[in-house]
Amino acid sequence: MNDEQIRVGVFVCDCGSNIAGVVNVPEVVEYSKGLKDVAFADEGRWSCSVDALAEMQESIKEHNLNRVVIASCTPRTHEPLFKQNVKEAGLNPYLLEFVSIREQVSWVHMKEPEKATQKAKDLVKMGVAKAILLEEGEEIRLPVKTDCMIIGGGMAGMTAALNVADQGFNAIIVEKEPQLGGLLNRISTISHDHDEILASEIVNARKDVLESHPNAKIYTGAEIEEVGGYIGNYKVTLNVNGGSENLDISTIIVATGMQEILPEDGRFQYGTDPRVITQLQLEEKLKSKDVSDIKDVVIINCVNSKNETRGCCAIGCPVSVKNALALKKLNKDINVHILYRDLSMVKDEQAHLQAAKAAGVKFIRFPDNRYPEVTNEDGNLVVTVFDILLGREFKMPSDRIVLTVGFKGNDTVEAIKGHLKVSSNQDGFFQEAHIKLGPLDFASDGLSLCGCAKNPKALKETCEEGMGAAMRASIPMKNGYIEAEGIVAEIDLTNCNNCSICWKRCPYGAIQINEEKEPSVIKALCKGCGLCAADCPKDCITIVHYTDEQLLAQVEAALEENPDKKILGFVCHWCALGGVDMAGVSRLQYPTNARLIRVMCSARVPISLIERAYELGAAGVLVAGCEFPTCHYITGNYACETRIKRAKKKLTKKGYNADNLWLTWCSAADGPKFANVMRDMVKELGLE
Ligand code: FES
Repeated sequence: MNDEQIRVGVFVCDCGSNIAGVVNVPEVVEYSKGLKDVAFADEGRWSCSVDALAEMQESIKEHNLNRVVIASCTPRTHEPLFKQNVKEAGLNPYLLEFVSIREQVSWVHMKEPEKATQKAKDLVKMGVAKAILLEEGEEIRLPVKTDCMIIGGGMAGMTAALNVADQGFNAIIVEKEPQLGGLLNRISTISHDHDEILASEIVNARKDVLESHPNAKIYTGAEIEEVGGYIGNYKVTLNVNGGSENLDISTIIVATGMQEILPEDGRFQYGTDPRVITQLQLEEKLKSKDVSDIKDVVIINCVNSKNETRGCCAIGCPVSVKNALALKKLNKDINVHILYRDLSMVKDEQAHLQAAKAAGVKFIRFPDNRYPEVTNEDGNLVVTVFDILLGREFKMPSDRIVLTVGFKGNDTVEAIKGHLKVSSNQDGFFQEAHIKLGPLDFASDGLSLCGCAKNPKALKETCEEGMGAAMRASIPMKNGYIEAEGIVAEIDLTNCNNCSICWKRCPYGAIQINEEKEPSVIKALCKGCGLCAADCPKDCITIVHYTDEQLLAQVEAALEENPDKKILGFVCHWCALGGVDMAGVSRLQYPTNARLIRVMCSARVPISLIERAYELGAAGVLVAGCEFPTCHYITGNYACETRIKRAKKKLTKKGYNADNLWLTWCSAADGPKFANVMRDMVKELGLE
């Protein structure tokens, strides 16, 4: 391939009038023909149509094209289609470069056709500059067998295990407690329509099926000691009741559940007076059915939740109503008051609310900023509460106070996080790969999560997620392999001084070292974020399809003309480009100055490229990535943020204006934010 003459084909799409209604497409095509190494350029009415795709294949063959640039919509939706098309034409799909002139040009510069056409030309030029340097790549295929380990034997874990086992795969449950059931073992009843079901019945029903399932193996009293490897090839060491057990595992589901956040420092007299208990402690009392020692119960909701540090606990209100009603059912003469800020009840739970009111449970709403207080007066518990409706404060004697507390991930989160190299959030729960695009996945392949390991939820959602996680884990086990994109790191050891930065910072543990401390990439684990490449002080690492040379070629092409009018932007493929696309879809109009370069993650942008843009006279540089903590490469955006601070210092030292380097975090839905950043930059940089 190296000695082969480069022959780039450029295909510019009209997208009906979506692009051609603003951009002068024939002019862009003619311009493309004059670019270095372009052997063919053509206009397509609908380039993604079946006929146009077939024509494209013909053109690739007829003109011996060995690189292809598609200028059309967004790579986020259409890149796989065009990759497949060039593959069918006999070209390696990694020799395709995608240029977005619809979402980034025609849809956002509708009233400036000339400037839009100029921008489209620049973007095509940048695409061609990169395409010339593209090299063949290949997907990495890893075999995956059929052993799935489920960490946690509560309802989420049991449901996941059962659904894995029912498909004919091996489900291995690892539960730290002596028995299965998790949090449900401590709960008396579960609400169901107008009825209640014993929690123990639900646990036993599931447990019985699992214990007799030929494809299920259950370890209780077991904890994870070590996990090494990757999807299809995990080596797990368990501590089972003091003994060691080694397992070969293909996929892992995390279902470790949650725990209550107990009030600290005697708040509400909790911990100092045994009559002050939490909902889970009340559940245990309800299970015993002995409430003979209770006469006046006050339930206080939203304790350690819905405050400045964490959100609504999601289940507290229905639980408080369910248990209030349960107390009344056991003894109708017990006085029950629920003190609440807001009653968050979904439609299905309204029946319980009505039943509780009918049974005589009293509800008192207190203000957000005025929590009830609990005092001990001469041995009697007294609750002081301000009633919003009555507009006055009053005191209530009580012999049992029940605190509806918030939840956090359970004690094993930290250890499991370390074993699996996954993230948790500030509430102490595991962090999913993406709230919408990967709600049951971790960022690494082969790892799923479900139930209250992710956030608090009711039993129904817990079971649904258990089923969902089982499906996620089953896909590679059914296929027998996974195919990872060939966008991975490559290390050239020539200048390496074994500084350790790459393997220490890799979010996936995808770089290993030998005895001489020389790093090498475990391609199966590498996700191609580019953090290592951007941080390597000796420039030893590059990323396939996003090499330093390719990115540099794009920077130089973008800034070849009128650099002082241009903003050079680096946007991550995921949320930031999603935001850019959303601005386009929403037809938000912003100035035409930006020339954007796609990288997989904001972590890929090295300081050297930013400096180069300054050297070439760019009016401003923008780096845009996903909001915290939603980087698709776990910690990429954190690494980017740290690096940008370093870049600013370096630029200042060199006499540049570091204020012209902007950093923004954007969700994939936040088109307005991206459009505003563009407008603000143009204004601040004096480009208007
Ligand atoms: Fe968007 Fe990392 S993927 S910042």
